[in-house]
Amino acid sequence: MVHLNILSGLFALASIATAQCGSGTPDATVTGSGNSFTAKKGSSNVYSGSDYHAAIQAALDSISSGQRVAVIASGSIGTNTISIGSGKVFEGCGTINVGNKAGRGAIESLNTVGAQIPYLTMTGNPYFGLRFYGTRNLVLGKITFNLSGGLAIRFDRDQAANSDVKMDVISCTGASSHCVETWNISGLKINQVIAKNVGESGLLLQKTTNAEVGLVDGNNVGAGTGYATLRFANENGHNNGNYNINIRINKVVSRGGGRGIFCVSQSGAVQIESVDLASNGNNAILIENCYNVKIVGGTVDGGGEVRLSARSEFANNKDISITLKVDNNTVRESPCGDNTTFNISGNAKKNIC
Ligand SMILES: *[C@@H]1O[C@H](CO)[C@@H](O)[C@H](O)[C@H]1NC(C)=O
Ligand SMILES: *[C@@H]1O[C@H](CO)[C@@H](O)[C@H](O)[C@H]1NC(C)=O
Ligand SMILES: *[C@@H]1O[C@H](CO)[C@@H](O)[C@H](O)[C@H]1NC(C)=O
Ligand SMILES: *[C@@H]1O[C@H](CO)[C@@H](O)[C@H](O)[C@H]1NC(C)=O
Ligand SMILES: *[C@@H]1O[C@H](CO)[C@@H](O)[C@H](O)[C@H]1NC(C)=O
Repeated sequence: MVHLNILSGLFALASIATAQCGSGTPDATVTGSGNSFTAKKGSSNVYSGSDYHAAIQAALDSISSGQRVAVIASGSIGTNTISIGSGKVFEGCGTINVGNKAGRGAIESLNTVGAQIPYLTMTGNPYFGLRFYGTRNLVLGKITFNLSGGLAIRFDRDQAANSDVKMDVISCTGASSHCVETWNISGLKINQVIAKNVGESGLLLQKTTNAEVGLVDGNNVGAGTGYATLRFANENGHNNGNYNINIRINKVVSRGGGRGIFCVSQSGAVQIESVDLASNGNNAILIENCYNVKIVGGTVDGGGEVRLSARSEFANNKDISITLKVDNNTVRESPCGDNTTFNISGNAKKNIC
């Protein structure tokens, strides 16, 4: 439970974030509506005109590291990208509607140190809503995506790695892909990921180490797919050549959708304290070629099988330990894993080694 107290204290540390979006005296602001926007740095105009994106970028470009922009206005940036530099604090207080530009984020912070987005509400169908790589000490606060498609938050795979990323509460509806997809992060703390009516994953961790997550809550996530409310893939958790536990998840809730929890492709090193999974359309839990996965407690009611399996391309499951109450479902281990420990209560059928 110690790590929970750490999590709840985390966001007090973000020094510049305010108690409410835009409160206090932001160093720069974007105001206006329709086709008339004004960006100011202090009392000086840095943009006046009809282009919402240009107003926002002018405000960001006018501040220096350690300063804050509050975008009070709502509007559409089209297929443009907002770029946040090192140490800059971006508060999206209005609703930022975005377009879809292949391979790009509507908002990006690339190769930066200490960028912060304490507040943001985004609508639209972005390729990536937020795109990051090469970040250090990135802080995301209360971020709400009400999308009609796209992928909400993406850390790129084939770019510089990231370290010490913090997120408070990330909420997504309507993404056709993932709510949060990471690659190559060392040091990740997330308070909550809340995903509803999302096409692929709620939280997808890949090549990420030293992660602490409070809650992942998925409702109708990944329906008709093999994705999951919480998915670990591509050697997630593998750290310095071993699978010692370094991924800690406090709670996973999932209803309907595709899978509840899915660990695949040589991931693991994870301890999940508690799960509450019901009526998942695919496996409530699937663990496939994973190493050192511990589920400490919780319930599964109905849905697809709780399944330990293996593909021949990678080594079999190893050191999987599962304590769960499973009702109206089956727990199946096939093939037999190496050093599996089950403690299953409830009315589930058990087909285990
Ligand atoms: C999300 O956006 C849609 C329109 O795109 C709107 O009808 C709905 O009320 C919004 N939902 C929330 C929770 O803001
Ligand atoms: C990020 O992960 C990918 C996939 O494993 C890997 O190819 C790449 O080298 C990594 N990048 C860095 C900078 O570590
Ligand atoms: C079996 O796995 C548990 C973790 O579930 C681990 O603590 C133990 O050391 C493993 N035993 C062997 C013999 O590897
Ligand atoms: C699921 O299992 C519980 C506990 O045994 C039982 O009370 C409930 O009726 C079952 N629900 C269904 C839909 O079978
Ligand atoms: C098995 O799980 C129950 C909770 O359902 C717990 O009380 C018990 O201590 C567990 N047994 C072992 C050997 O871990």
